[in-house]
Order: sequence, then C-alpha cells, then structure tokens
Amino acid sequence: MEKKSAVLACILVLNICTSISLVKCEYYSQSLPYNQVKEHKTSLHFYIHDIVSGSKPTAVPIARPKSGQGGPGFGQLFAIDDPLTEGPEITSTLIGNARGMYVSASQDAKPTLVMYMDLGFTSGKFNGSSISVFSRNPITESPREMAIVGGRGLFRFAKGYITVHTHSLSGNGDAVLEYNAEIVHP
Ligand SMILES: *[C@@H]1O[C@H](CO)[C@@H](O)[C@H](O)[C@H]1NC(C)=O
Repeated sequence: MEKKSAVLACILVLNICTSISLVKCEYYSQSLPYNQVKEHKTSLHFYIHDIVSGSKPTAVPIARPKSGQGGPGFGQLFAIDDPLTEGPEITSTLIGNARGMYVSASQDAKPTLVMYMDLGFTSGKFNGSSISVFSRNPITESPREMAIVGGRGLFRFAKGYITVHTHSLSGNGDAVLEYNAEIVHP
C-alpha cells in the first residue's frame, strides 16, 4: 500500500515538473502585419498640483548628489503622487493623479526637470486609462511642452504632447500647473 502511494506521489511530482518546464521553456514569438486602425485625437484640459511644502506633500525628495557635486538645479530626485483636478483649486473635482518621478537635470542657468510619470485618470470616459510622459520640462518657460510617449487602456499606443502653463507658484515652491494634452491614439 505504502509503496503504491509513494509511486503515485512520484508520478504526480514528475507530472507537475514536466508541465512547469513546458511552460517555462517555451519562448514565444510571432510577427504579423500591423493593420493601422483609424486614430483619434483627444484634447484634455486639467490642472496638476505639485505640493512640496506642509505636512502632506505630494512631491518628496528621494535622492540627491553628495555635497559639492550637483547643485540647486542638478541632481535632486523627487517621487510624486500629484492630484489632477478639473479646475485650478485643489478642492475642485479630482480626475486622476500623476505618479512617478522628476529629476533636476540642468547644469546651466535655466532650471530644467526631466519628468518620468504616468498620468492616470480616475473618472469619466478615461477612468482606468493613463498617459506616459517622459520629457524634459524647462520650468521657467510658460508655455512649455512635454512629450507623451505612450499610454494604457484607451490610450494604448498613444503619442502626443502637453502644453504646460504655470498657473501659480507659491513662495514655498508649491505649484499649480495648467495642462493641455493633445493625444493621438486608436
Ligand atoms: C473608475 O473605475 C474604477 C475601477 O473600475 C471604479 O471602481 C470607480 O468607481 C470608477 N470611478 C468613476 C468615477 O467612474
């Protein structure tokens, strides 16, 4: 009896191993012609709040260079979870959030951030969809432009740009930015 169940267990283990290795070993690759679908252009207008001060900042420094290297405009890295709202007031309707990072990345007089962020929408038609921004952001220029390089959900394969206006900038560095996004997507 015991021998039989040991054999059975052995067979079971072997079977599991074989199926695991089958799943693991198969590298899958297939290329087919890509049928271009009709593209849409969506314009989105909203505001983003980048709050660095107070007890509940939405942007926090996570790394900086060793002292003596870098400088005020070079080398500071921030993590962000910035709210996106319909209007310029923080109390206005929340429509999403910008999650990711930005790094101060200029060694000359013109302050420039490089943004790596995912703008996710949490309401309306684009709830659950997001756009990916990877771009430099010369923060003293208004308007300025940032590149949209992709997206998720309804914004799969997205491309486009965001025109940014500085709506307000407080003495302690909190900023409200007006974003006009032009997005081309399927
Ligand atoms: C957005 O989608 C999530 C997940 O499907 C859902 O729970 C939520 O209620 C939706 N929000 C709005 C405002 O439609």
